Amino acid sequence: MTTDSVSLELTLPTEKMTLSQNGAEQMPVIGEKALPFTASTTQGPIHFPEDFVGKWVILFSHPASFTPVCTTEFMRFAELMPDFEALNTQPIGLAVDSVPSIIGWVREIEEKVKFDGAEHVHIPFPVIGDVKMEIAHKYGMIHKGFSDTKTVRAVFIIDPQSVIRAILYYPASSGRNFEEIKRLLISLQVVDAFDVATPADWQPGKDVIVPSPNSCEKAS
Ligand code: BEZ
Repeated sequence: MTTDSVSLELTLPTEKMTLSQNGAEQMPVIGEKALPFTASTTQGPIHFPEDFVGKWVILFSHPASFTPVCTTEFMRFAELMPDFEALNTQPIGLAVDSVPSIIGWVREIEEKVKFDGAEHVHIPFPVIGDVKMEIAHKYGMIHKGFSDTKTVRAVFIIDPQSVIRAILYYPASSGRNFEEIKRLLISLQVVDAFDVATPADWQPGKDVIVPSPNSCEKAS
């Protein structure tokens, strides 16, 4: 008998979570409702998802504050913020750190850091201080092969009905491509609006696939 498929139901302090036999948390999956949480952020408390219903949300985690790759990611995401606002999308960062420490990091970025021709970049999105790693564990952001206490670079794109629509994981060593995250978000919005699919390397304005794979069954 293999143990891979055996699950244990354990009651953890915050809520019931399902753990596999080797103790790994089950990852959230595409198509599920995003798990709710309340959190302290650099812009005050948030209640997720109720504070964001009707908006797209990009929930993204960082391995550590005051580190170079994470800093460049904050700056890049901030520079693209007008595009994400136009797409009715709220970014929410997360770090396993205290809110005061993250605020210190954000101030340092805004006041001192230069990257790729940008400086004095205002960081406009809230960043969750998840010291107890409750949200990080809930969302499968802690990958024990990397670290027990730091998140990997996770991205969850969550739609206005609070359903998880896309998940990306990157290692700590490789900064994310925020143009790609924007492209994926636009693809999801186009898919929803026109019931189509988007081909490989699709870019906004280019041809789409009609009907979408989901609508083939409906059409037959
Ligand atoms: C960074 O953001 O530079 C970083 C953070 C954790 C591990 C490796 C790199």
